[in-house]
Amino acid sequence: MTALERAASIEDLRQIARRRIPRFAFDLVDGGAESERNLRRNSEAFEEVELTPRYMVDVSEIDTRTTLFGTNYALPFAMAPIGMLNAFWPDADLTLARLCKRENIPYVASSASSTTLERLAEAAEGNGWFQLYVSSDPSVTDGLIARAEAADYEVMMVTADVPAAGKRDRDIRNQLAVPFRFTPEVVVQCALNPTWALTSLRHGTPNVANYADLLQQATSYAEVQKTLITPGFSWESLKELRARWRGKLLVKGILHHDDAVRCAEIGCDGIVVSNHGGRQVAFGPATADVLPAIAGAVAGRMSVLVDSGIRRGADLIRAKALGADFAMTGRALAYGVGAGGNAGAERAMEILKLELVRALGQLGAPSINAVGPADLTRPPQGA
Ligand SMILES: Cc1cc2nc3c(=O)[nH]c(=O)nc-3n(C[C@H](O)[C@H](O)[C@H](O)COP(=O)(O)O)c2cc1C
Repeated sequence: MTALERAASIEDLRQIARRRIPRFAFDLVDGGAESERNLRRNSEAFEEVELTPRYMVDVSEIDTRTTLFGTNYALPFAMAPIGMLNAFWPDADLTLARLCKRENIPYVASSASSTTLERLAEAAEGNGWFQLYVSSDPSVTDGLIARAEAADYEVMMVTADVPAAGKRDRDIRNQLAVPFRFTPEVVVQCALNPTWALTSLRHGTPNVANYADLLQQATSYAEVQKTLITPGFSWESLKELRARWRGKLLVKGILHHDDAVRCAEIGCDGIVVSNHGGRQVAFGPATADVLPAIAGAVAGRMSVLVDSGIRRGADLIRAKALGADFAMTGRALAYGVGAGGNAGAERAMEILKLELVRALGQLGAPSINAVGPADLTRPPQGA
């Protein structure tokens, strides 16, 4: 039996990934902001949500299919956008985009991906969505949107929760830099993880592919960040985006119910209740804690998605019970790729699916669509 076959959970895959990836690259994905309190709270908060099983329901057939924006998906979650993921494992972006197509779930290509948005659209074959970071330079933002349109993305997700880059202590200690630099410590860590190093060498230095030309001219990390994000992204900017983008528009990074209501008023098609997987701040709420109030505030007006901390199939059910229409996971599938490339990503997907189907049966819910607040043991606070 291989290590991948023996892996029983996403946490097991994370441990395998940790052993075969240099620390600086593992921390890049695994780490969170400052004390990492928010990162830890995310999965804890999901785990604390109790669902009460009902028995003597015929669950011989379990249906995990979900419709979102008029499209049928096989499972109730998407692969969340992750930047620079090829640093974690070479070709991780393409591996996951193809996997999402095979499994018929959405794949969200990040503005900061290490493979171009055009190649990812091709790999995801219609299952691709595009995530936009609004740049401080309007021509950069315009260029990305025009490319996303030309590549036939129909869903765009604009990320709102990065008015400033997150302070991630692990990355600072590891002296992580974009564009990537080979410091002496990095070289030592690579030597200790030869499979990663050799595979990475074959695939070339990981980059932020959509901005490759611009970044080559950058002279400092501060300049790179200015190209990627802006503290000036405002409700006015969101209105302009809404007028500009003809497809479905989602806002990612909503934590306050008032912000959710404003997104609905502006005519957005959905929001993602997200704290960026605990990578932005350590002081914020876990998404499972704020989701019920947000879902209640915009019920029936737009789609509500949630991410940050989903590590189990049962978390997908909890998300639904707390009021979400759909979920996303970032690290769960990323750990899979890190643990074993394509085979590892497939194993992560298999674990999530098996857990989801089993938990639905045990809850007495033959379909994910039948899950709702009535399955919660206790009414959520603030809903
Ligand atoms: C390494 C890493 C890079 C990320 N890059 C982006 C990004 O480029 N754009 C974005 O909107 N979110 C980004 N995110 C946040 C994810 O889209 C998602 O919100 C988060 O991973 C969900 O939490 P989870 O990892 O606990 O599932 C990133 C997350 C990680 C772990």
